[in-house]
Amino acid sequence: MRIDIISGVPQLLNYPLSESILKRAQQKKLAEIIVHDLRTFAHDKHKIIDLPPYGGGAGMILKPEPIFECIEKLQSERSYDEIIYVTADGERFDQKMANTLSLKKNLIILCGHYKGIDQRVREALITKEISIGDYVLTGGELAAMVITDAMVRLIPGVIGDGESALTDSFQDGLLDAPSYTRPEDFRGMKVPEVLLGGNHKEVSKWKDQQRRSKTEERRKDLL
Ligand code: ADE
Repeated sequence: MRIDIISGVPQLLNYPLSESILKRAQQKKLAEIIVHDLRTFAHDKHKIIDLPPYGGGAGMILKPEPIFECIEKLQSERSYDEIIYVTADGERFDQKMANTLSLKKNLIILCGHYKGIDQRVREALITKEISIGDYVLTGGELAAMVITDAMVRLIPGVIGDGESALTDSFQDGLLDAPSYTRPEDFRGMKVPEVLLGGNHKEVSKWKDQQRRSKTEERRKDLL
């Protein structure tokens, strides 16, 4: 899978992409993630990528020209399954969408300012608009990272334990069971007996019960 992320603040993306599981996925060539600095597509002396909105109002709007130029350059090199714009007024991101997107070959993710981008970009180029939740971020970069992380970890081979991504919270509509590691007794707080016995059937039954009761208590809407 290849993901091209377009941003006016690429520094925000570089660190999360160069650590931990996202780093490993790229090293193993399971994901190719390329960050594009929107400013390199601005041709004026001051490399301006944003301007105040027509009609007035607070905040700056990303100009159309650098975005069109960047996306058209990428499209001339390969075809893209989706051109995503991350925005608070997009379709809500969830595990199902992460699963679907993780199967795509080439994606573009465009990050905007919180006040947005020129509407003509949305109408002419964007194929999917995604929000990561009902709150407003200062820009799309953190949302792009959330979406990238959630997709890339689903690519087979990215997470060591082949099973672990499938047993995550939400994968089958239930929250995850509690987890424990050594020591068995920490300051008097003990690991549940059933997890120590090595009876896989009992462990699986216990986990299932835990998942159901946790989901019932916290997220009735998922049941
Ligand atoms: N940009 C600003 N807020 C956002 C949100 N909630 N989701 C995605 N992109 C955003």
